Amino acid sequence: MIKQAIRKLIETSGYTIQKKTTAEVTYNQDGLICTHNHDFMNDPSFCKAYERGCRAASDYQWHWRVHIGLWAAYTASKLAGDFVECGVNYGFLSSAIMEFLSWDSTGKLFYLLDTFQGLDPRHVSNDESPLRMERNEKWVKNGYYVSGVESVEINFSQWANVRIIQGSVPETLGQVETQGIAYLHLDMNCSPPEVAALNYFWDSLVPGAIVLLDDYGFLEHIAQKHAMDALAKEKNVMIASLPTGQGLLIKPPMIVSII
Ligand SMILES: C[S@@+](CC[C@H](N)C(=O)[O-])C[C@H]1O[C@@H](n2cnc3c(N)ncnc32)[C@H](O)[C@@H]1O
Repeated sequence: MIKQAIRKLIETSGYTIQKKTTAEVTYNQDGLICTHNHDFMNDPSFCKAYERGCRAASDYQWHWRVHIGLWAAYTASKLAGDFVECGVNYGFLSSAIMEFLSWDSTGKLFYLLDTFQGLDPRHVSNDESPLRMERNEKWVKNGYYVSGVESVEINFSQWANVRIIQGSVPETLGQVETQGIAYLHLDMNCSPPEVAALNYFWDSLVPGAIVLLDDYGFLEHIAQKHAMDALAKEKNVMIASLPTGQGLLIKPPMIVSII
């Protein structure tokens, strides 16, 4: 009884009580606290890629998210097909990936789609709108969201096999000219253009293609999770909810019936 009252008092003050574990907390950033091994952070090729991402954008503390992004890209690089990212901003994750894979040597194209001026209010759902649009205005003003494509073009000028497509998704989706997509990253912080993009690209995703959803597990992006879950159900696939907050989906390989 007393224990419960103390717990309630502490929790109403904004703190949480955690049972002491014997294991030491090894990682605590970006909404993820755990006691697991993260020795990918010591891998020189990870460090080089991460540093390139930071050079494009900012010194984000998103190491595990980037690790998943690099894994996804590395896995997809073994498949036929191009890479697409919808929601690029300054190019943090995509720069890290291109560095990691020595991009031009892959022979693939990387399509980068963004308004490069924040969210498009026409493509934000009603339940997302008040918070998203208020933040959007703030983030464009304070530079957290890029405004203008010029600096982005300079950042990616290091690579030849890249196509920057400026404008609103879904209107710009038709400008992606590809025979197949091996990697699709959706990170637009709102659901309608993400659902439209996944629907639009579904048939172009090669068997085994990786789809990474940056915002899937973040509580404030619950509308995106609901929308993506509904679409996944339609497509008869399941999204893995990762502890990093990302969602991961694999386009099922073709089912060949053996007679
Ligand atoms: C969280 S940022 C992307 C972060 C990026 N993936 C990275 O690695 O840093 C979200 C981006 O989505 C873009 N965006 C939002 N709605 C969009 C839409 N309908 N069409 C195109 N871009 C959009 C914004 O301009 C913003 O740059």
